[in-house]
Amino acid sequence: MTANTPQSLSENINDFAAIKAVGGQIESRLATIVPTAQTWPARLHEAQRHALLSPGKRFRPLLCVFVAKGAGFDGAAAIDVGCVAEMVHAASLILDDLPCMDDADLRRNQPTTHIAFDESTAILTATALLNRAFGVLSRLTHVDAEKRIELVDLLSYAVGSKGLIAGQMADLANTDAEASIAEIERLNTLKTGALFDFSVEAAAVLAGSGATQRSALKDFSYHLGLAFQLMDDVKDTIMSNSEAEKTVGRDIGKATILALTGSKAALERLSGYIDSAKDALMRANLSNGDTLNAVLDVQFAFLNT
Ligand code: IPE
Ligand code: IPE
Ligand code: MG
Ligand code: MG
Ligand code: MG
Repeated sequence: MTANTPQSLSENINDFAAIKAVGGQIESRLATIVPTAQTWPARLHEAQRHALLSPGKRFRPLLCVFVAKGAGFDGAAAIDVGCVAEMVHAASLILDDLPCMDDADLRRNQPTTHIAFDESTAILTATALLNRAFGVLSRLTHVDAEKRIELVDLLSYAVGSKGLIAGQMADLANTDAEASIAEIERLNTLKTGALFDFSVEAAAVLAGSGATQRSALKDFSYHLGLAFQLMDDVKDTIMSNSEAEKTVGRDIGKATILALTGSKAALERLSGYIDSAKDALMRANLSNGDTLNAVLDVQFAFLNT
């Protein structure tokens, strides 16, 4: 069955069962990858668990694990690498929610880390999560040292001053209503896409994918990052806090594709990004294209509402 052929109901059910099973493995590993809440200093570790274990969609780890599986790597290290992406993501959300950035009170239907604890604890928690993420990569079991070094390098790039942090910096300065679509796409590619790129490319490294597969996967994660941030921007303008389960409306006044083109054109562009991601996924020739398409359907389900 190819990625674009409609599936039978039973195949669909199998995909959702597989996603649920991997989701459970990710949750279990996240719960052990950081110290217990009793570990000294308890307040820091409570905050870490608050930020990391609150109910997120786990899109980045799901991508990492299923891309690795589809490219031929089925080891437990893919779960760890996915959890690393989730640790970095959680750290970025803690910082993004701070009063000096988006000043948000609600995240994943819970008080944000600086509200539940305090600002200093939130900053230290984010820093500790980021630092530990590199340690987890360096200690992956049954992955040779050369690959572990490549993963550390990929993560440092994704989360560094030419990746996520560059995007967040540009986003904070984004008040230019005249920004072009190309400029906004660049910002979104860095702010959000860099971590999607890491999650997918790291899976390709684990699997030892060749250049052709890696290039198709790069195209896949690029379009996925653009699609995901644009969907988030749409949610930010039309959902309430309780519907989004986080503080919304903080990006109103910024140049977004939605603000620039209006909702009809933005939704058309969004479905174009998703089509491009699915085309690239097909070109990547993974053995589980259908399951990955089901992962995408879950994450982008909002668009069918
Ligand atoms: C929110 O990411 C931040 C963006 C990059 C849009 P998610 O929508 O994946 O947030 P969680 O992890 O499910 O809370
Ligand atoms: C955040 O983008 C992306 C990050 C790198 C943290 P947003 O500011 O739009 O994310 P939300 O809407 O607060 O989740
Ligand atoms: Mg923000
Ligand atoms: Mg925000
Ligand atoms: Mg947002």
